[in-house]
Amino acid sequence: MKMAPSIYLSIGLAILYAATADAQLSQSFYAKSCPGGVQAVANVVSAAVRSDRRNAAGLLRLHFHDCFVNGCDGSVLLASTPGNKAEKDAPPNLSLQGFGIIDQAKAALERTCPGVFSCSDILALAARDAIATIGGPSWTVPLGRRDGTISRASAASSNLPGDGFSFRQLLQNFNSKGLSQSDLIVLSGAHTIGLTHCSKVTPRIYNFPRSASGADPYLNTTYVTEKRGVCPNSASSANKFVALDSSKGGQTFDINYFTNVLDHKAIFKSDDALISTSSGLKQVLDLVRSPSSKFFSQFGLAMQKMGRIQVLTGSQGEIRKVCSKKN
Ligand code: HEM
Ligand SMILES: *[C@@H]1O[C@H](CO)[C@@H](O)[C@H](O)[C@H]1NC(C)=O
Ligand SMILES: *[C@@H]1O[C@H](CO)[C@@H](O)[C@H](O)[C@H]1NC(C)=O
Repeated sequence: MKMAPSIYLSIGLAILYAATADAQLSQSFYAKSCPGGVQAVANVVSAAVRSDRRNAAGLLRLHFHDCFVNGCDGSVLLASTPGNKAEKDAPPNLSLQGFGIIDQAKAALERTCPGVFSCSDILALAARDAIATIGGPSWTVPLGRRDGTISRASAASSNLPGDGFSFRQLLQNFNSKGLSQSDLIVLSGAHTIGLTHCSKVTPRIYNFPRSASGADPYLNTTYVTEKRGVCPNSASSANKFVALDSSKGGQTFDINYFTNVLDHKAIFKSDDALISTSSGLKQVLDLVRSPSSKFFSQFGLAMQKMGRIQVLTGSQGEIRKVCSKKN
């Protein structure tokens, strides 16, 4: 087969690019500098998740928010300082959880290998260890990310997808992070665990525009009745929580989220949006009809991809001593 020189060139560049990307992060990054480090993170995380399964959702979402805002650089962990409102204090943070667990892991690492292990790597490992602890998939986590020094609330608001987003908006958001439509759908499966505030749901079940019943007619009516039971239509319900996937109390990492989406029993408009195009519907149907091992392995691969978004490596950034503040 004859190929134009430009094709050789682009194949060459693609290989070169892939090689550099691989060289930047590696599974054995801390093998010499902090041999027990990866296990130390796993110990802290699995203890925290065994004592409260809710922590798994918190840790998974922390890594997602970290990676989508300014790359996976630990910036989600930085506290606001006078004159700068940090990512964690932006409105999309509402239920961000798990900061204490990351701090605990970091403290353990600083005792054994001070100044070596990045907070962004701890976040990536914690998400993996948390999901594995509740019986979900596990995946390898390439390491060597370094920590950023900037965290801005405005960046969180403009980079995180909204729960009212359409398919097109979600796809545009994920594509802008180098993630595909398939990644979007598979990663949304994270909503098989965790909670949301009733305030996120009440508009859809009581105050939906132009609906005689008050509920979004798209939703299954049995589901609406159930959610109304959990989230009463009163100001006092705003701070109550409701499971994203109530099929097993929101505690189990499984494919039920996708079944819910097909049954019109998902909480967010952005969940419904996944099956609003024929290709999205096709992928969701395929996931539901396949053994859950398919979702599991795809989820792990998509998490690895997410964990590489705009990472800092080499001499970029720093290794924070305390995850909530730059050195
Ligand atoms: C596709 C676009 C997404 C949208 C619009 C979205 C939106 C949301 C919203 C609004 C909440 C509830 C927050 C609250 O009430 O405070 C939530 C919770 C959650 N999200 Fe997402 N999310 C998306 C994708 C993801 C991804 C990719 C992951 C992880 C890989 C993820 C993991 C979670 C988890 C685990 C929770 C529960 C957190 C807890 O219980 O503390 N989400 N999401
Ligand atoms: C989330 O942001 C609000 C302000 O928008 C802040 O009061 C709250 O403490 C933040 N939550 C976390 C967990 O950082
Ligand atoms: C709504 O859900 C209930 C039970 O969960 C089911 O029996 C019913 O058929 C569903 N309704 C529709 C319209 O699919």
